[in-house]
Amino acid sequence: MREWTREERYRVLKSPNEIRSLYDRIRGSVYRQTYHVQPITGLSSDPNGFALHRGVWHLCYQWCPWGAVHGLKYWYHVTSPDLLHWKNEGIGLAPDRDYDNKGAHSGSAISVGDKLYFFYTGNHRDENWVRTPWTCAAYLDEDGKLRKLPEPLFGPRSDYSEHQRDPKIVWNAEKQKYYILIGAQTLDKRGCVQVYESEQPLTGWRFAGQLKVPGFERFGGMWECPYIVNISGKDVLIFSPQYTTLPMRGNSTNHNVYLIGTMDYDTLTFTPDGSYDYLDWGFDFYAAQGAANVDDPDKAVLIGWIGLPDNHYPTAEEDWEGSMSLPRELRIRDGKLIQTPISGIDTLRGAALTPNGTLPRACELEIGVPAGDFDLNLCTRSDGSGGLRLHYDQNAGICTLDRSGMDLRFNENVYERLDVKLESPLRSLRVFLDHSSAELFFNDGERTFTTHLYPTERELNYTVKDGAKLRIWEMTRSVTDEFAV
Ligand code: FRU
Repeated sequence: MREWTREERYRVLKSPNEIRSLYDRIRGSVYRQTYHVQPITGLSSDPNGFALHRGVWHLCYQWCPWGAVHGLKYWYHVTSPDLLHWKNEGIGLAPDRDYDNKGAHSGSAISVGDKLYFFYTGNHRDENWVRTPWTCAAYLDEDGKLRKLPEPLFGPRSDYSEHQRDPKIVWNAEKQKYYILIGAQTLDKRGCVQVYESEQPLTGWRFAGQLKVPGFERFGGMWECPYIVNISGKDVLIFSPQYTTLPMRGNSTNHNVYLIGTMDYDTLTFTPDGSYDYLDWGFDFYAAQGAANVDDPDKAVLIGWIGLPDNHYPTAEEDWEGSMSLPRELRIRDGKLIQTPISGIDTLRGAALTPNGTLPRACELEIGVPAGDFDLNLCTRSDGSGGLRLHYDQNAGICTLDRSGMDLRFNENVYERLDVKLESPLRSLRVFLDHSSAELFFNDGERTFTTHLYPTERELNYTVKDGAKLRIWEMTRSVTDEFAV
């Protein structure tokens, strides 16, 4: 693994020409995705600024141009008419002001009338590397470019640690107010959410208080990327707690969880109905963000980063890594969160393939699972060995996924094998494989499992237990990957 000096990590991109040859080289990688958003070069991490505005979906993501390193972060901007086909628009926000001199960090967007507003963290560091996180704003101009306001909206509070970031803007119609949720850490290193409020999106912001979440006063050391959405009358709080291990999550100290409950904006209390659950039970899923302006009270649309902080992936050797997950639809069914792949994804299906034990690099598998224990091994060698191995133990109600048998192993000390606890017997699976990722949806969205995967040339086979009803479609390309900077 390459070691980066601070100077290399925080190098400012001055001209597209500086990364053109990197892009040309990376394009040839067999691990480039074909229907997932990915960086043109370097590293992509959190989704940012996800919103529907005048019929166009806008999405940005954290981007470091130079390689697989968490260095100077830009917002890279992509757009889509349908959440399936994505176009690269180039840099959305560059860290080009004093207040964001060491990164345009994560944030969100909201469409208000004919305006699209963006909120992000200006990551300032002084010469002693002391950090000041500013909450900043921008808007979409007539040319489709993001334009920053001249000054930040507000600075950090001194009664919290330096970890105060990831503004998520929320409109509350009942209160006729905007709220900004900030992921934060208290001075005694507990994760929490700060709430700011205003009647206007770009002015008048004031600190309303710290979100109370009874039972979660001590739950991780920092809550990144908080988000609250109302679905079918229930509130859902989604966030990414850090600096703690959690049950069934191996040695990982980064997680993406949710709580279903009730949000009271008068008392700033989110009262959970029950315990937390993992938003995704897979190896690589983090910092998920819901889109603003979905305009359906029964649904949210969410996208995550396929990757985790602190981890690195085999394509780091090729100077790029990470991709966005497929967008998902979130609904509440019987008081539980259900996540399904974005509707319309079927239109990316090519002709149905006759199941013959081999897999194209980009495909969807739909599997009707017979009763009893079950096995599915994806990306195996031709003799059925290796690959991503899924075993379902019906008595235990647990699906175990193990990627340790793959030729290219990674993040072995975090985990290579995880259990997924199912709520009901396994009856169906939908699997989306792209060149370097797999997303599994269990039982019509009762659970999901997302992972990076880097099959070698000899790992393009599968085996499945007899009796399974299997359908496979090759997926068509929907991400064009043009060089836009
Ligand atoms: C989450 C995160 C955010 C931060 C951003 C920086 O992965 O650490 O909290 O804004 O990444 O890239």
